Amino acid sequence: MPKREISKDNPILVVKPYVNEKAIQNVIEVLRSGWIGEGPKVREFENKLSEKFKINYLAALHSGTAALHLALHVGGIKPGDEVITTAQTCTATNHAILMERAKPVFADIRYEDVNIDPDSISRKITPRTKAIICVHWAGYPCNLDEINKIARENNLFVIEDAAHALGATYKGESIGNISDFTTFSFQAIKQLTTADGGMLASKHPPHIEKVKLKRWFSIPRNNKEETICCEPLYDIKEVGFKYQMNDVAAAIGLGNLEDFDHFKKHRSEIVKLYREELENIPGITLLENNQDRTSGNWLFSMHVKNREKFAAKLKQNHINTSVVHLRNDKFTAFGPLRNDLPQTEKAYHTLISLPLHNHLTEHEVQHVISIIKQGW
Ligand SMILES: Cc1ncc(COP(=O)(O)O)c(C=O)c1O
Repeated sequence: MPKREISKDNPILVVKPYVNEKAIQNVIEVLRSGWIGEGPKVREFENKLSEKFKINYLAALHSGTAALHLALHVGGIKPGDEVITTAQTCTATNHAILMERAKPVFADIRYEDVNIDPDSISRKITPRTKAIICVHWAGYPCNLDEINKIARENNLFVIEDAAHALGATYKGESIGNISDFTTFSFQAIKQLTTADGGMLASKHPPHIEKVKLKRWFSIPRNNKEETICCEPLYDIKEVGFKYQMNDVAAAIGLGNLEDFDHFKKHRSEIVKLYREELENIPGITLLENNQDRTSGNWLFSMHVKNREKFAAKLKQNHINTSVVHLRNDKFTAFGPLRNDLPQTEKAYHTLISLPLHNHLTEHEVQHVISIIKQGW
């Protein structure tokens, strides 16, 4: 890639959308085709996603938030039920719980990888607990064996929020095949974008059948029978949602998917370089990187001492950094601030993400590393 000038007006961004020429051409074709709603492109995108990521049962949706909401709904969450979750996530994770009028119960994280701590989950279970949501922070899979064992022993279901983790694996298995539900996001700045979009996967095929029914108002779309005046002859038996993906979004996804493997490699090379170069720098603690799993590498997060000074030093050198998501109990909707989450509290003062995206060049990564090596 050509060297890009790094300046105040041209800083190195933490994340950046990627849309290729094929995606643009695909969109033009769909817009001219006379069919822009959910149709053949969504079907094609679902088949390609299944093939590329080796995920057995999935449904495309209009966002990752829709996927989370449908997972809770199809899983049978009722008002007043408790869902054990993490505060260290995008608010979408916990909004979905509120949308079903259930209660988010925050478990603590493991400081080592910022993912939910299975021991803390166990301590939060009550007779009202129905489900566990775990978030694969930055794309690095949670301890899924432990989490699913706790769920089995307590008759709970598990939702993996894999919005950061497309393409990740755990003990050789694709993220998407392991738990009751796994949700993905194709929002603007994700590794694979459809501008906005999402996907719900499940190891139980009937769940995906249900999701496909519920994603469009529970209309049985395989029954097209109607009268001469277009009165539908089907029945709508239960509540559904307006959560389907449309063909324009699928067309973007199909184009971008062609470059996914190339940029997966690119991102993992950047992560490798960051890890090698930053490993022994005083004041930096890299996150855990167990060899039994691979990360989706959406973010490069780490813990840093004197985080504000660190961020200021990088900013002076035209490098952006970000906490990305604020612990959710800081927000009134999820408050009050919990005082029984010591590792979440510790990470609240140290967690930061460096630039990582498809457009990032080696020259830019070397610049980030050299500025960090100057100290802060
Ligand atoms: C952890 C996490 N969960 C869920 C979502 C929601 O996905 P979407 O924006 O596609 O609704 C996001 C972010 O976009 C996220 O980062």
